[in-house]
Amino acid sequence: MKIGIIGAGSIGGNLGRGWAKAGHEIRFGVRKPEAAAELVAECGERAQATDVQTAAAFAEVVVVSTPYNALPEVVSSLGDLEGKVIVDATNPVAWDKGPTHGSSTSAAEEIAAAAPGARVVKAFNTFGAEHLLDPKFGDRTLDVYIAGDDADAKASVAALVEALGLVPVDAGPLRNARLVEHLAVLWIHLATQGGLGRDIGFSLLRK
Ligand SMILES: NC(=O)c1ccc[n+]([C@@H]2O[C@H](COP(=O)([O-])OP(=O)(O)OC[C@H]3O[C@@H](n4cnc5c(N)ncnc54)[C@H](OP(=O)(O)O)[C@@H]3O)[C@@H](O)[C@H]2O)c1
Repeated sequence: MKIGIIGAGSIGGNLGRGWAKAGHEIRFGVRKPEAAAELVAECGERAQATDVQTAAAFAEVVVVSTPYNALPEVVSSLGDLEGKVIVDATNPVAWDKGPTHGSSTSAAEEIAAAAPGARVVKAFNTFGAEHLLDPKFGDRTLDVYIAGDDADAKASVAALVEALGLVPVDAGPLRNARLVEHLAVLWIHLATQGGLGRDIGFSLLRK
């Protein structure tokens, strides 16, 4: 699959590393492509770094992995998004004696409102970026909660989750991105205030 990753930091970088290894074509959409040279070299011949709009135009699936505050600028610089799958990995986190959710709806719904015609899916936001490349916790594997209104888009994202060796969990419609983002706030609380550290993740129990 052709994947554009906007923002090549902790989350974007590891998504690119994992998907390049799994055989996907990666374009990191960044402000300074030359600064991503080391990451691109690590990902191998299937990866390049370009400006944001070129990466988005190339891609069937565009992942947004920038800070939440950058979303208005980022979304407006993506070009024509009609029909594209946009995966939102951002977290709107505010801080009030601890982490809180910093959107009146959700980052994913804000993206959908700013990009009509795009098929927005929330995913990859509920655990530390380091676990993307090492998702096993003993005999359990990390879940990725996926919220979106387009079934085909969610199926594409679920396949990309599985390509990384993680477990996709359908979390329902796009409005449930609010729940998925609140789950991220809980992860951040547990990791930073709750004394558990970053080596934690969510996995559903089933009978
Ligand atoms: N880190 C985690 O463990 C984690 C886990 C779950 C979710 N998240 C969420 O994922 C998102 C990314 O987090 P991160 O830790 O990967 O951040 P990061 O390491 O700071 O990387 C952010 C990336 O976004 C780029 N960027 C910033 N502003 C931009 C703009 N206006 N236009 C284009 N690119 C821009 C930065 O590029 P420059 O180098 O040019 O500044 C950088 O490549 C955040 O919303 C975060 O809440 C993070």
